[in-house]
Amino acid sequence: METSKSFQKLIRRGSNFLNCQYPIMCGAMTWISEPKLVSAVSNNGGFGCLAGGNAPVDILIKNIEETRSLTDNSFAVNLITIAPAYHEHLAMLKDQRLPYVIFAGSFPRDKEIAIAKASGAKVLCFASTESIAERMIRYGADGLILEGSEAGGHIGHVSTTILLQQVLFKFGDKLPVFVAGGMGTGKLMAHVMLMGAAGVQLGTRFVMTKECNVHQKFKDVFMRANARDAISTPQYDSKLPVVAVRALKNKGMQKFGELQLQLLLQMKEGKIGREQAQEEVEKYWIGSLRRAAIDGDIEAGSLMAGQSVGLLEREMTIKELITELVTDADCELIRLKSFFAD
Ligand SMILES: Cc1cc2nc3c(=O)[nH]c(=O)nc-3n(C[C@H](O)[C@H](O)[C@H](O)COP(=O)(O)O)c2cc1C
Repeated sequence: METSKSFQKLIRRGSNFLNCQYPIMCGAMTWISEPKLVSAVSNNGGFGCLAGGNAPVDILIKNIEETRSLTDNSFAVNLITIAPAYHEHLAMLKDQRLPYVIFAGSFPRDKEIAIAKASGAKVLCFASTESIAERMIRYGADGLILEGSEAGGHIGHVSTTILLQQVLFKFGDKLPVFVAGGMGTGKLMAHVMLMGAAGVQLGTRFVMTKECNVHQKFKDVFMRANARDAISTPQYDSKLPVVAVRALKNKGMQKFGELQLQLLLQMKEGKIGREQAQEEVEKYWIGSLRRAAIDGDIEAGSLMAGQSVGLLEREMTIKELITELVTDADCELIRLKSFFAD
């Protein structure tokens, strides 16, 4: 598609870094970012990320091979540092020689980043606070993904607007920083890139594409949702910590709240220990994203979604989505140019 010289200038750094046409990343989504979605993103000028998730290593290798068979363009593999097969995932990098590795979950150790880099990969790490960004740079990250708490899935506690100032403004000159969490339009994409971002990462909007193979009920509930329906998991007491996940409100979320209150009461009455209560809390969501996204259980499963769910208007193809983002970003640059012209 034809774009202005200003747009081409704006995307150069991110496109060169990711080796793709537009620095628009489709963030990895466990169970969802499988070879067909990832390759469709990369084949349409964006940058796909294959989800390592909780997959056994042989399945992940199969998925990498399948993605490679579907696209010659670059894509990343997302490794979750707390996944059961994480160390096997790390070990397979040496043979797979992937061009990009993205660490997610908790934060990788320096040795783990070194393993990925030694395999020839460029490494991207999430930065959900300024100090984590500093640490990831010290450990050797080649690029950062700044993800604000508006995002869908596992989240930090700081919003995108604050992280733009704490991470992008501080480190954006040193290394490419990609902005995630609430990126829903090309207009905003243009602005964060004018602020210094190398590109953007979106998850929620890519769920609503034709190539995304989630259950129709999962898409339908996304379409109906407002931004305020995508809430962070409630935590009632720091004695019973809960991992923050942004997802659409449903019965499962309500029951999770009730479970915490029951467990807290039982703890207070001495009927249950802290450890056992914590185990109950952690057990609750196991397998729940799969239940919702693949099996279509939208009542009890986890409907992970960002607040940008409120910006969804219709299901579209990946080509249409990327075209829309690029065109709107470019239009915004043209508008700004004429605004400053006189
Ligand atoms: C359903 C769902 C599952 C996700 N799973 C992962 C994951 O496995 N690994 C990861 O790094 N990020 C995961 N994310 C975060 C996305 O990759 C992306 O960073 C985020 O969705 C961007 O914010 P947005 O939802 O506002 O577009 C997930 C997000 C969603 C909505």
